Amino acid sequence: MHLTRLALTDFRSYASLSLELEPGVTTFSGPNGEGKTNLVEAIGYLATLGSHRVATDAPLIRQGAERAVLRAAVTGTNGSALIEVELNPGRANRVRLNRAPLPRPREILGTLRTVLFAPEDLALVKGDPGERRRFLDDLLVASAPRYAGLRADYERVLKQRTALLKSAGGKTRLRGPARESVTATLDAWDAQLARAGAPLLAGRMRLVAELRPHVEAAYEAVSGGPRGEASGMNYRSSALNSGEGFEDVAAPDTAQLETAQLETALLKALDGVRASELDRGVCLVGPHRDELELSVGGLPARGYASHGESWSLALALRLASFTLLRQGHEDPVLILDDVFAELDAGRRDRLAGLVAGAEQVLITAAVPADVPDVLAGARFEVQAGVISRAG
Ligand SMILES: Nc1ncnc2c1ncn2[C@@H]1O[C@H](COP(=O)(O)OP(=O)(O)OP(=O)(O)O)[C@@H](O)[C@H]1O
Ligand SMILES: [Mg+2]
Repeated sequence: MHLTRLALTDFRSYASLSLELEPGVTTFSGPNGEGKTNLVEAIGYLATLGSHRVATDAPLIRQGAERAVLRAAVTGTNGSALIEVELNPGRANRVRLNRAPLPRPREILGTLRTVLFAPEDLALVKGDPGERRRFLDDLLVASAPRYAGLRADYERVLKQRTALLKSAGGKTRLRGPARESVTATLDAWDAQLARAGAPLLAGRMRLVAELRPHVEAAYEAVSGGPRGEASGMNYRSSALNSGEGFEDVAAPDTAQLETAQLETALLKALDGVRASELDRGVCLVGPHRDELELSVGGLPARGYASHGESWSLALALRLASFTLLRQGHEDPVLILDDVFAELDAGRRDRLAGLVAGAEQVLITAAVPADVPDVLAGARFEVQAGVISRAG
């Protein structure tokens, strides 16, 4: 699929912007702080209903404005669609598809599919486990929008169970019927957590198994490095190997585990940690405690990998996502924010070769010369929020 038009009103630094886009490669260049990333952030928002830079919507609305409106026209094998998102701070956002309001914003997911790589992705490698869980869940949603609902269900159950643990924690010395009632309530929430967590866990484990060969190939292609520098990834589930170390990763066939088996495993693990959960008032088992372990050359990437290695691995995760999402489907829009400046000439050329065949690639660069010539295409200048054709 590809974007044919993008229009922004009061989004970030843009009071008003309207831009025609074509398939193939488009490069946006211009000095720092002129609005290149704001542009691709808007496109990412239309695809995912979230920003890759901030967790709340407030910074997305132009200073002094009351709301922001984002619009995009998308063309793909299913014809054309018009997506509109209105960001209203403090109130519900409104989403429209082909001018018809959607009852639930998340119904728009899947209409525009993007894979966005940005400097912030370094946090995928260097940041907390939550960054990597979010990466997996976002990719699940991109590959099958029904995961948005599964994810929301799990988060709701987790929140309620955690609240219960907190309030029950102080009452561990309860006796008799009072104690039994807390136990029965917790049992019910254990069952709910396991039921909501199992499909998410199954999805993540299958995703990691599918993604792994693509990440390895992309890392090798980007780094061009000698063997032994290979990257690795493993999903470590708090339910399946709790208490085990980095080496004790899930057995390879766990990707085949049925959701029902995972539900049982979650229940069993929850049972095992009940006492410490009550002590600490936190939920110790479930997809929200899992880790996607990444390694380079056999060492954990976090804390060991060099800056260049981390950057290449983060990029490999996104390129692998792109490869996975395009399998059996039309191409997502590939967005590369500021990626070339960080790479040496060899890596630049290899990356250019990898992405040149995508249906639509949007690239930002402060220095246009950093973008390899093989990625010739439409070129735009971004200066003070004005976007003009440069060739
Ligand atoms: N809500 C907002 N209202 C007004 N201006 C904003 C808002 N949010 C961000 N900006 C401005 O947008 C600019 C940043 O734009 P952006 O991140 O797109 O820059 P860039 O062109 O990608 O720069 P770089 O090359 O450094 O990555 C900053 O000057 C910032 O002050
Ligand atoms: Mg930028």
